[in-house]
Formats: sequence, structure tokens, C-alpha cells
Amino acid sequence: MTAPTWYKDAVFYELYVRAFRDSNGDGHGDLPGLTQRLDYLQSLGVTCLWLQPIYPSPLLDDGYDIADYYGVHPDFGTLDDFRRLMVAAKRRGLRVVADLVVNHTSDQHPWFQAARADRHSPYRDYYVWSDTPDKYPDARIIFLDTETSNWTFDPVAGQYFWHRFYSSQPDLNFDNPAVQAEMLKVMAFWLDLGLDGFRVDAVPYLFEREGTTGENLPETHAYLKRMRAFVDQHYPEAVLLAEANQWPADLRPYFGDGDEFHLAFHFPVMPRLFMALARGTAAPIVEIMRATPPIPPSAQWCTFLRNHDELTLEMVTEAERQWLWNFYAPEPRMRQNLGIRRRLAPLLGGDWRKLELANALLFSLPGTPIFYYGDEIGMGDNIWLDDRDGLRTPMQWDAGPNAGFSAAPADKLYAPVIASGPFAYERVNLAAQLADPTSLWHRLRRLVEIRKAHPAFGWGDFAFLDQLPPSVFGIMRRHARQVVVALHNLTAGPQTVSLDPAREPALAGLLGAALTDTLTGQPAGRMELRRFTLQPYAYFWLTAEA
Ligand code: GLC
Repeated sequence: MTAPTWYKDAVFYELYVRAFRDSNGDGHGDLPGLTQRLDYLQSLGVTCLWLQPIYPSPLLDDGYDIADYYGVHPDFGTLDDFRRLMVAAKRRGLRVVADLVVNHTSDQHPWFQAARADRHSPYRDYYVWSDTPDKYPDARIIFLDTETSNWTFDPVAGQYFWHRFYSSQPDLNFDNPAVQAEMLKVMAFWLDLGLDGFRVDAVPYLFEREGTTGENLPETHAYLKRMRAFVDQHYPEAVLLAEANQWPADLRPYFGDGDEFHLAFHFPVMPRLFMALARGTAAPIVEIMRATPPIPPSAQWCTFLRNHDELTLEMVTEAERQWLWNFYAPEPRMRQNLGIRRRLAPLLGGDWRKLELANALLFSLPGTPIFYYGDEIGMGDNIWLDDRDGLRTPMQWDAGPNAGFSAAPADKLYAPVIASGPFAYERVNLAAQLADPTSLWHRLRRLVEIRKAHPAFGWGDFAFLDQLPPSVFGIMRRHARQVVVALHNLTAGPQTVSLDPAREPALAGLLGAALTDTLTGQPAGRMELRRFTLQPYAYFWLTAEA
């Protein structure tokens, strides 16, 4: 049996099926709609899709509140539609992973309904109950804007139940061996249908223990290792991606000794990319990556700029959080919980140079990068919608009615399209960008292509260039004989850079090596003392053979 490696140099694309493409005109995106757009995703060059939850659900948390682990929400299609999607994806060499929400269910799940109705039901012990709301006081509240406690009294049950997220999402009790077994069954069901793995939601919180924060407990890691062993034994090509919003030292154990997760999001580097761009200095990125412990060779970080949630500022200091809020979320409405409910393009002022640079930074870092649907064309947001809905508006395909998302009347759409302001779909849409060879879409597609053509990005180790001006982020990636040196100007002014292989430890041994301009494929002289001028927000990548 060989370990899977496809995720090491993958490019992921996260999408919400409901928001992507509506094939039957009911106002909700669906699986057939997604299947029809696989050619598009293939043309962008992404290699793996991450589907947000598609299961039956009351959708009070956009499907992260699951009412049935073994089906498809009727608005999104059927299991047969899912099978057809998998066949069509495989035919194109596209992998597909899906969200697996293990920590909690919807309160509409039959397990919870049975549990609350009868103290003696075998399902009672699937959840965490108490006669008082006093246990586990050291566990923080995550949805600070809406929840006041992790305990909610259920009048039917006559007891309090435990929940780390919305009170409509009771936490499962992982001390119960039956719950542990249920989740393996769920995994097998979807992997048997051809899924390539899971983005496992909210993994730090599986167990509760008095006197702890209830995060990252040894019991949790033990169970996650069991999930991995199960996958390795029965589905050796499948991968597990951890959603654990934690500091580097607490994230590292989620890889175990290569026997826990294959992938984990690097949450701490994300806000620091925004800090670096706002302050025009590379230091925040370099510092957090230097503070990140090495991971097993088979493991991989997953890096991202934005996703379907608020831009979380949990992994920064209090002072940094205030600074980032002031800079990126000047309006109170832009703030949510400990984060910012805005999309990438509005955060960066809709400036294509900055958007391309932000993606170039991401692509140069170790890890597998993820696009969030719509960010490849610089879609905007609607901060006036509820919760995080403003980041989950319909994909803007073209300038036609409903942005080409749906044939339904506009008032039947699950959410309004972005129809006014600088990000209105008449201006920001895929068709317009496909027609313009200088568009953001074409530039990002080229980045994807370049990244895939250079194994150093997915497989390589890395070192930072130390001798550059503070406003230039420089990183060296090396795999086998391939070396890529990536330089990025984080400022609005030109920057002159001296590249000196004699003084730069990351470039040791490269003196005299022939260089190629990675972005154009043209020869670029030799590695020797060189001076370059980087235009505002420009980047320059060089490839050498060591
Ligand atoms: C994860 C998801 C988020 C969801 C929460 C509760 O953090 O990313 O969207 O609300 O889990 O399931």
C-alpha cells in the first residue's frame, strides 16, 4: 500500500453548492449545476474541490447543522446527482472532498430528537447533558455575537445540553463508543461513493474535560488517530483535512507522527498575510512561519486567504486584532465575533495588483493553497445580510439576469446577488474576465499553472531571504534540484532589491546557477549579485537548477 501524495501539490477550490449554479431554476444552486460547471473549474486549473455541507439540514448554519449524515439536502439534489458528480469529476481528474461535521449535529437530527424525548433512549448518551449550566466553565464561547453560554436548557429533555457553536447544534458525546463508531460509518458511506476525503469541521472540541478549555485534548487526538487509521486501512487514497483554529504549537499535534491528519489549515499565517499587505512589511509572515514547528514529510499545510467564515482574528494578539479591525473593518457591521465578514476583493480595495500579489504570496508559501469560490474573479460581499451570508452570495457567472446563477425570479434566490457598487455582477463576472486576457482571472489561472509545473512549491522545503528590504517578502523553495526564489513587493512604491547569493544563506550553493523567469519561462541570467526593481505590489519569481 502506498501513502497518498496527491494532496501535496494540489490546488483546492472551496465552494458552497447552494451558491454555485442553479440547474433547475428553484433559486438554489445544486449538484447538477456544479457538475455542469466542472469544465470551468478544470479550466482554472484547480485539482480538488472542497464541498461545504450538502446533507439534509435546517440550514440554520448553512448545513454545518446536519440532520441526516446519509443524504443530500433536497434543494441541492439527490444521492444519484452526487454519484454523477463524482463520475464527472473523476473523468476530469478532479478530486472532491466534503465537509464532515463530527463535533455536533442539528437539533433536528433524529438522534437528538430521540435523546431529548426519553432519558432512557440509547441516543440520550449521544449528547452531553447536565442538570446545571456550570460544568466546563473554562471552555470559551466561539459564537460570541449570538451565544451567551455553551449550555442551553432543553425543556423537552428537562436538562441542559452542551454546544460549542449555535444552540441549534448540540455537541455529540465522543465519550460514547457508539458515537465514535457512527462517525466511521458515515465516513465509509461517502468514501464508498467515491469521495476523496473530508475537511473535518471543528476538530479541537470533540471531548470535554473539567479544568480544561476543552480544546486539543489527548482524548480528541486519540480519536482522530483512529479516524486516520480507518481511512488508511480501507481508503488509502483518501485524505483528512483538519479545521483547527489554533496557534502553531497546538496545530502541530494534529499531524501526529504522520498518523493523524494529512492536511491542516494554517490559521495563524492567514491574518498575517493581511497584516503584511496593510503595513507593507514581511515581518509578520516570516515570524509566524519561523514559529511553526516542522511537520512530518507526508503532511501538508493548507493555506488560504479567505473562506466561507468571517476572517478570523483569533490567532493574533489583542493589539494586532484591534489594528486589523481598524484597518480592514472600519464599519462596525463588518465585524463579526472575533473576525471580519468581508471577502478578499473588498478587503484589498478591489485592486487587482494587490489581489494578484496576495495570491502570489499564498502560492509561494509551503502548503496546498485554496481558492474560495468567486475570489478568483474578485467578487464582492454584502455586509448587510445576516451572519456570514454576505460572503456566500451567488457566483457571478455573467452580466445576465441573476448573474447567470439561476433562471428563477430574483426574489426566489436563496440570497440576493451583489447588484450594486463596484463589485456589482454587471462589472465583476466571469464572462467579462474570460474575455479580457489581462483580467485577474487570467492572472490567477497562470499562477495555478506555474505552481503545478514546479514541484518545489508543493513538495519543497523553504527558507526566507534575510538580506532584503523589510518591505519585500522573499522566500526560497527547493525540491530535489529545483529552486524557486520568490520576491514580492508589499508596498505602493517601487522597491529596489539586491540579490546577493554570497550573503544570503537561503541561496548558498547557487552562485552562478542559470536562472529562468518563472512567470514568463524566459532565461534570466545567472545567480550572482543582482539588482532588481520591483514595481508597486509586483512580484518576481526565479527558478534555478541547483
Ligand atoms: C466551522 C465552520 C463554520 C461553522 C462551524 C460550526 O467553524 O467553518 O462555518 O459555523 O464550524 O459547525
